[in-house]
Amino acid sequence: MHFHQELIKLLASATQLKEEEIEQLLSVPPNPAMGDYAFPCFKLQCFSGNPKEKAEQLKLQMQENLPSFVAKTEIAGPYLNFFLNQTVLAEKALKEIYKEAKWYGKTDVGKGKNIIIDFSSPNIAKPFGIGHLRSTVIGHCLYHVFEYLGYTVVGVNHLGDWGTQFGKLIVAYKKWGIKEELQKEPIHYLLKLYVKFHEEAEKNEDLNELARAEFKNLEDGDKEALALWEAFKEVSLKEFQRIYDILEVKFDSYEGEAFYNYLLNDTVSVLEKNKEVPTEISDGALVVDLKKFNMPPVLLRKTNGSTSYHTRDLAAAFYRLKKYKPQKVIYVVGMEQKLHFQQLFKVLEFAGVDKNKFIHVDFGLFMFPEGKMSTRKGQVIFLEEVLDRAIGEIQEIIEQKNPDLKNKEKIAKHVGVGAIIFADLSTDRIRNIDFDWKRMLSFEGETGPYLQYTHARACSILRKAKHDHKLMPNTHVSFVQFQLPVEFAVVKLLYTFPEIILKTAEAYKPHILAHYLLSLAQAFNEFYHQCPVLSDELNLSKARLLLVDCVRQVLANGLELLGMKAVEEM
Ligand code: ARG
Repeated sequence: MHFHQELIKLLASATQLKEEEIEQLLSVPPNPAMGDYAFPCFKLQCFSGNPKEKAEQLKLQMQENLPSFVAKTEIAGPYLNFFLNQTVLAEKALKEIYKEAKWYGKTDVGKGKNIIIDFSSPNIAKPFGIGHLRSTVIGHCLYHVFEYLGYTVVGVNHLGDWGTQFGKLIVAYKKWGIKEELQKEPIHYLLKLYVKFHEEAEKNEDLNELARAEFKNLEDGDKEALALWEAFKEVSLKEFQRIYDILEVKFDSYEGEAFYNYLLNDTVSVLEKNKEVPTEISDGALVVDLKKFNMPPVLLRKTNGSTSYHTRDLAAAFYRLKKYKPQKVIYVVGMEQKLHFQQLFKVLEFAGVDKNKFIHVDFGLFMFPEGKMSTRKGQVIFLEEVLDRAIGEIQEIIEQKNPDLKNKEKIAKHVGVGAIIFADLSTDRIRNIDFDWKRMLSFEGETGPYLQYTHARACSILRKAKHDHKLMPNTHVSFVQFQLPVEFAVVKLLYTFPEIILKTAEAYKPHILAHYLLSLAQAFNEFYHQCPVLSDELNLSKARLLLVDCVRQVLANGLELLGMKAVEEM
């Protein structure tokens, strides 16, 4: 059991408060000189007097059976501060990490519970955009994090493979399409057709009407329209797969929008019949009225009978509830769809679904120096080009720094891709990210390469100790040897890893984990700077070597959770 939990239990019995209440109150003082934990005493009912007197009484009460991991307690105003015994902490933490190794931080809090993560979800016949990259990277990280916590996670790629844009493409292809071109460079070519459609439609309004009719054809199962749609889908999926291969992302399901077609009629009629759902006919279309909530209506069925993005998301939601009985359904989708999801969740709530089940994990934009892009105008950044450039630049850096490195290409790929992933995950997802090549690819600062480099450095220290001194990490060491604040700073960080994973999951925010790993790497580099790992004193060398090994392990576990590779050399 973690000291943290043990302390909570002790405080709960001393104050007669519930453990959850203690957990809320107990905090980590910003200044380490104030101890490892601070507990506010003003609200305690079980003691009388002013807050300071209450703190004194609590101190006395706790003193009776203070566990060995608490070195001392101190009163600071209305707070009782706890100082952990550093040696006990070091011993417990490092032994635990060494023993649990790649399972360190894993729990089964989510055992028996299903979580659906709807992520990536690019649109067929369009380039895989940077927004989809963000969704892929954030979703993939959350997938790992929840799995680590014992949940059964279902990763769904809700492909955008249905909708009016296919009407446009079918019109464009029928008018101007050339089969060979489509085979050669499918996505570029489809994008070209899409752009041409919009240019022509500005001059000729009829084209939009034609597109709507073609989409209706598609929905009605017209053979020719369906065949074209299938061809577009096939070539697109092939292209997307290349990106998923580079990122090493997998999905449990590719049930995208088109998959739900067979459920749409039922979904609409069930909602229409449900008295709790305020449906109405508006200009011939069937909508759910959300005026009361200051939101525009949700379109269930258009005037010409075809359905909408919302209808398909509603069908998907009911289908997933039935199939997976999930505890949560998480949609990792950009902020620009905030309203879409607020409306969706409102309709689900009307239909009697527990509204806390559904979460929109939203995120901001990746801002390129080139400015805002528009698919309609054909200004897009091709993700593969971004990844290729990152890999190429890292390759050059490695060529300069470490030309004799084995497996250079593979490592450049892991570090280049890692740099992009980390640039994304290290920023609070709701903020925009300025895409700054130089900063992102640097081996120093708050970057992916820096973390991977730190991991590789720990590996190299361990290799050297083994090779030159026949020393391997093990737990038969004396922890009393640790004396320096830098050593304990690293231990303390290592010890909080499991809590960090929980916090990351609770907030659905990978940057919590990313920042933690940066702090750990910084503390470790400081330690390495100040302390020779292999000193004259054998016991001290052994203890420090174990510390290095635990840092290596936690960095590796953390990088893996982020979706990055922990390379051993670079
Ligand atoms: N295909 C959509 C887009 O690119 C994202 C889909 C997100 N998931 C969902 N269930 N709506 O905008």
